[in-house]
Amino acid sequence: MQLSLDSKFATYTPPKSQLLKWVGNKQRFAGEIARFFPTEFNTFFEPFLGSGAIIATVSPKKGIGSDVFKPLMEIWNKLKLDPNGLIEWYAERRNRLDNEDKKKVYEDIKASFNLNHNGADFLFLTRSCYGGIIRFRKSDGFMSTPCGVHNPIAVQTFAKRVVEWNNRLKNVEFLNIDYKDAFDLAKEGDLIYCDPPYSHSQSILYGAQDFDLKSLLVKIQEAKNRGVKVALSIDGKKKSGNYLCELPIPENLFEEEIFVSVGRSMLRRFQMEGKTLESELVSDRLLLTYSS
Ligand SMILES: C[S@@+](CC[C@H](N)C(=O)[O-])C[C@H]1O[C@@H](n2cnc3c(N)ncnc32)[C@H](O)[C@@H]1O
Repeated sequence: MQLSLDSKFATYTPPKSQLLKWVGNKQRFAGEIARFFPTEFNTFFEPFLGSGAIIATVSPKKGIGSDVFKPLMEIWNKLKLDPNGLIEWYAERRNRLDNEDKKKVYEDIKASFNLNHNGADFLFLTRSCYGGIIRFRKSDGFMSTPCGVHNPIAVQTFAKRVVEWNNRLKNVEFLNIDYKDAFDLAKEGDLIYCDPPYSHSQSILYGAQDFDLKSLLVKIQEAKNRGVKVALSIDGKKKSGNYLCELPIPENLFEEEIFVSVGRSMLRRFQMEGKTLESELVSDRLLLTYSS
């Protein structure tokens, strides 16, 4: 029997490492999540792009990656149109650590970013801020995350990642638009993957405070009605486990709910040897408007 590469069980391999350091990114779930995508689709959309773990895993033949956050989209467009320039952006800032204090450099660059939001500074901040916590003050978008304890990756290491990510995303168009506008671009036969900000657990992350999940559900319903398939990630952790229960989910909007797992957290496994607790599984919820 001949196996086709387009078989239902085709798997996707995530990039070896992240281009941007981003708390809550889907890197470790990416291979599993993508397994539930249909093998046939026209354009792949990721309208809450963040650090792009899923679109880089899918590496679509045709894709649109978008996010409402402008400095982030400057980075993605630079990756696509001028990858060497992106490495320069990083090198100019990272090389300062050779003869300047890390915290001082970090605070300088954070101040420059806060004065004038721009992709070049933001790139360095994502790589060097504490825990990859990209957090902004609600009133004026001020980034306050302190300097991380780690050393930001070497320029050579970053450059290798740029090559891999540029290649994986060569067929992707990057747009700085609201998710609603991205949804409106999707046509019958397209696939949209959504990883929205979670208003419960990430209230001050990435402007999540203004996010209204109900409106997203309306857009998902409209998309489904015109033949677009949608996969939606919802935080699988207990804290927001009942998140969707309070929401008026249109009946029959989703056809499948999957708990995507990457295994048990190592720490838990050690402490709780011999006991298996479902709630301790590191998992992520995925809702599909189609049958996988
Ligand atoms: C949970 S993060 C996505 C993380 C991503 N899956 C990853 O692996 O890095 C949510 C993203 O949605 C973006 N966002 C928030 N509100 C948005 C909106 N109204 N339209 C488009 N993007 C939005 C944020 O800027 C943030 O990058």
